[in-house]
Amino acid sequence: MKKLRSQNWFGKKGKDGFIYRAWMKNQGTPHDEFEGKPVIGICNTWSELTPCNGHFRDLAESVKKGVWEAGGFPLEFPVMSLGETLIKPTAMLYRNLASMDAEESIRANPIDGVVLLGGCDKTTPSILMGATSVDLPTIFVSGGPMLNGKYRGRDIGTTDIWRFSEANRRGEMSQDEFMTAEACMCRSQGHCAVMGTASTMACMVESLGLTLPENAAIPAADSRRKVLAQMSGRRIVEMVKEDLVVSKILTREAFENSIMLNAAVGGSTNFVIHLLAIAGRAGIKLDLEDFDKFSSKIPLLANLQPSGQFMMEEFFYAGGLPAVIKELLPLINKDVLTVTGKTMAENVAYSENFNDKVIASVAKPFKKDSGIAVVKGNLAENGAIIKPNAATPALMVHKGKAVVFEDIEDFKAKIDDPALEVDETCILVLKNVGPKGYPGMPEVGNMGMPKKLLDKGVTDMIRISDGRMSGTAFGTVILHVSPESAAGGNLALVENGDLIELDVPKRKLQLHVTDEVLAERKKKWKAPDLGYDRGYVKLYIDHVEQSHLGTDLDFLRGKSGKEVKRDSH
Ligand code: FES
Ligand code: MG
Repeated sequence: MKKLRSQNWFGKKGKDGFIYRAWMKNQGTPHDEFEGKPVIGICNTWSELTPCNGHFRDLAESVKKGVWEAGGFPLEFPVMSLGETLIKPTAMLYRNLASMDAEESIRANPIDGVVLLGGCDKTTPSILMGATSVDLPTIFVSGGPMLNGKYRGRDIGTTDIWRFSEANRRGEMSQDEFMTAEACMCRSQGHCAVMGTASTMACMVESLGLTLPENAAIPAADSRRKVLAQMSGRRIVEMVKEDLVVSKILTREAFENSIMLNAAVGGSTNFVIHLLAIAGRAGIKLDLEDFDKFSSKIPLLANLQPSGQFMMEEFFYAGGLPAVIKELLPLINKDVLTVTGKTMAENVAYSENFNDKVIASVAKPFKKDSGIAVVKGNLAENGAIIKPNAATPALMVHKGKAVVFEDIEDFKAKIDDPALEVDETCILVLKNVGPKGYPGMPEVGNMGMPKKLLDKGVTDMIRISDGRMSGTAFGTVILHVSPESAAGGNLALVENGDLIELDVPKRKLQLHVTDEVLAERKKKWKAPDLGYDRGYVKLYIDHVEQSHLGTDLDFLRGKSGKEVKRDSH
């Protein structure tokens, strides 16, 4: 084994070694822990403010058992934790900040290998981005999904929130029923139980080869989740000995696999900006078009909400991601290396599909179309995305008049106004919800429908914005328009009544306004004053990249590696 980097702290003689070890000993650490055992950092996004990760101290204990068993020395440390449900204006604003916390914490400390514990949406990409920029041996352990919610004899999950709230607005669900449902939905530890962004991220890390097989789907409350954590603790010690660093796993082929598997499971649109950001850290060239190109060959296999019927619990019982990987072996890069030290194909050699209602076959897929389509045109010169299997087929080729909302406040003020001039053929356009414009690119792209159309029984219409949508949401929604309106994209210039053409089969999103008129409008356009003149948010607005690049901060691309040149005393 190579000399461990932790020995640059704990193996030192004289004053420095004394300082590095002495304070650690106040935690009751015997001296031999410092004598050349691989030090394993457990990067924990536990927080009571991130309920989806509320069980992570327990999970970390399981990891520690495994590390000790394999002869390592585990040290758990906290990093900034991002909970989707409480953080305002959106957890996405802080993904890059949390990534910086993880990166600097890993590099600055005597750590030889790292176990990343993530669950709720942003906790997974943020710490992986940070770890990728350090490039130590790294393994990911997800927190696992909640058990299915149970309400009035049926299964419910996060996807139902949108249905319940529309039913409540229409007066079909009383306030009492509404509150009963909210107590029934989150009945166990874990993250959202549908194929929302958290489950998408758990599948992402497994499909990249960064986890032990089955990581994505084991419910948080299932004892096998703890077993996986313990086995991951054992494995990371071996990975340190093998010098199996992240960059050996995060190859271009691994990213292609991840796109294909995300398509097969019907993963969230948020996958796009997170995978782009991770590729940026890994130094792998990945374009928005790659998402369309690689997912277009893949049918939807997993019958999971929001694209289908079931939730992660059934997905696990059916065989989980390994069953999907096995089915797709002829299509993916099956020989890529994973954290097990084996290839993706070897990892799933003994996997089985136990329920073809939940996981369909390539020959008889659940749906033919899957994945992400990238549309372009003068309304999104650098591209925008749509998830076709969450959309209404009849709207995929459509021309309609724009009904424009200048920002989210304008939208909230007008959407239920009976005087709003709108019918179901119109296209709702929401501006200033992009990375800079909100700031932080919130999940408001699946904006609610006008009440007067809901009352008429209309269930979907085209909506366009520079924002994101929740991985649990659905509808004919064009998201991530780039360049965003606050950065002066043509989205900023759309006016009420303009004709917009969406043609998903032709990958087209066109604003039917002449270049001359757009140029005239552009002259009058002023960038919105966001009123942030200090702190992280100013740094974010000044440096965030557009969504077709993954919305990382421009100076965070690439890696700084694991070296720290100077001692602290
Ligand atoms: Fe945390 Fe959905 S809110 S995973
Ligand atoms: Mg979400």
